[in-house]
Amino acid sequence: MREVMTKSMARNIFYGGSLFFILIFIGLSWDSHRYIVNTSTNAETLTPSVVAGKHLWEKHGCVNCHTILGEGAYFAPELGNVMTRWGVNDDAEGGFDMLKGWMDAMPTGVEGRRQMPNFNLTDEEYRELADFLLWTNTINTQGWPPNDAG
Ligand code: HEC
Repeated sequence: MREVMTKSMARNIFYGGSLFFILIFIGLSWDSHRYIVNTSTNAETLTPSVVAGKHLWEKHGCVNCHTILGEGAYFAPELGNVMTRWGVNDDAEGGFDMLKGWMDAMPTGVEGRRQMPNFNLTDEEYRELADFLLWTNTINTQGWPPNDAG
């Protein structure tokens, strides 16, 4: 075996190694994309109401206090699974009633408890937000969060 690595050997190792790992990277990226699109989400169940709810979620900056599927601020509870936590699951009417009841009662003013502002939403907006949270609740998160409390 040679004692010294020639320039061309070094170059081949560099290009060969780079190509090898780039191909692995592309393969894994493609696999993640395929998994997200086909397995973990339900694009076909997206209704205009769910989409409108997502816009309200953005517009009112709910994520500035809450997390959704773990993303966001840790000031207030995780909301990706709030419909399960409330025992509503996939009942659209129940989800609307619970969300409206909750959001109308804000802020509670209870001392020592974190406060959520009142957004003065219309019934239609409550319905859209509830539909958005109900839809989010159907995302396959592989068992995350580990308990209903989020
Ligand atoms: C300024 C911070 C803040 C913002 C912004 C905010 N929230 Fe909250 N939210 C809270 C806090 C704090 C609580 C918990 C209050 C309590 O338990 O008394 C809460 C609780 C909730 C709950 C009940 C969670 C549960 O587990 O029972 C829901 C649902 C909710 N918020 C929805 C929303 C939505 C939808 C938005 C956007 C329109 C929003 N929040 C924006 C602070 C916020």
